[in-house]
Amino acid sequence: MLRFLTAGESHGPCLTAIIEGLPAGLAVRADEVNGALSRRQAGYGRGGRQAIERDQVRFTGGLDGEWTTGAPLALVIDNRDWENWRERAVPAWTRPRPGHADWAGSVKYGLSDLRQVAERASARETAARVAVGAVVASLLAAVGVRLGSYVEAIGGEQAALAGMPLAERLALALASDVSCPDEQAAARMRARIDQARAEGDSLGGRVALVGLDVPVGLGSYVQWDRRLDARIAAAIVSIPAVKGVEIGPAFANTDLPGTLVHDAFYPASPYPERQTNRAGGIEGGVSNGQPIVVRAAVKPIPTTVTPQNSVDLATGQAAVTEYQRSDVCAVPAAAVVGEAMLAWVLAEALLERYGGDDLATLQRRVADDRA
Ligand SMILES: Cc1cc2nc3c(=O)[nH]c(=O)nc-3n(C[C@H](O)[C@H](O)[C@H](O)COP(=O)(O)O)c2cc1C
Repeated sequence: MLRFLTAGESHGPCLTAIIEGLPAGLAVRADEVNGALSRRQAGYGRGGRQAIERDQVRFTGGLDGEWTTGAPLALVIDNRDWENWRERAVPAWTRPRPGHADWAGSVKYGLSDLRQVAERASARETAARVAVGAVVASLLAAVGVRLGSYVEAIGGEQAALAGMPLAERLALALASDVSCPDEQAAARMRARIDQARAEGDSLGGRVALVGLDVPVGLGSYVQWDRRLDARIAAAIVSIPAVKGVEIGPAFANTDLPGTLVHDAFYPASPYPERQTNRAGGIEGGVSNGQPIVVRAAVKPIPTTVTPQNSVDLATGQAAVTEYQRSDVCAVPAAAVVGEAMLAWVLAEALLERYGGDDLATLQRRVADDRA
């Protein structure tokens, strides 16, 4: 069984994650994890925090040199901003920001200083998830599974990607500061972000997350919580600000008759062939060997320079939100986090299907199955 937990606050000393269940013999390279961490930090539209942090991973358990041993893998990402905050006397926050966990979290845990909620609810935690995702992405890569992501829309500006192969979309996205494979749309997205920044506002958008060369048979239809699509959906919606998810073109499919939606089979060896992928790579909760394509709806950043109506919980009086340093648009970063969460679910399902306490056994079993 593969599992992970994270700990740490946004302005605490560090973020920590522990992954248990990795097979022995996997090479885990800090530079690969750091590459994923810097992709999460980069991206047009991010705020001042990213100029302070230079996220770097430190492994503190589970490796012999760069090799996993089967022991739990522990990793740490230091928060540089902690030094700036540790001596600072911060007044209690008492005005909940709409769209954040502030109010519901304060009621739930009986906390009167909303900062205590925000410190853990903050998306800073997603840095730890990206590090975990990069580790399991190397496990997936070791059995030939490739992952990627791209941005389809920001603030209503849509990429035109019809006819562009998935692999090309993923490659072009890596070279774009808005992770968008359509450069003309990317230019409009940057302009839209500049406009929102000037207006004291924020933006959301849509991202696509892709798994290529995923073996047939991950997940199962035999029980609700084993369905791969259900597990992916839960993992993706767990990302802060993600409010919707679809597998394949699920919402567009609702406008079409069945004969235009389902992916017909054609004879081929060793498996029948499909000429379309409107199922997004999953049928009956099981991967079908087609690319897994998932889309996520990312809401606009809740913190805005323009004040929003609130209530000061200390006085019960009407108030407006106080601005806290924030991103204008985190859609490109959300794509990197989404890629990490997709990697996690695929790695879990891969190990369930093939087992293997060491990487060589896992690789042999997957290769036998693919042959
Ligand atoms: C990578 C990333 C960065 C984010 N940065 C910010 C930010 O700077 N300011 C902000 O208000 N919300 C930011 N968010 C969104 C909030 O964390 C999120 O909306 C909030 O915690 C409430 O959770 P919910 O939207 O899932 O309900 C970010 C989200 C992600 C994925």
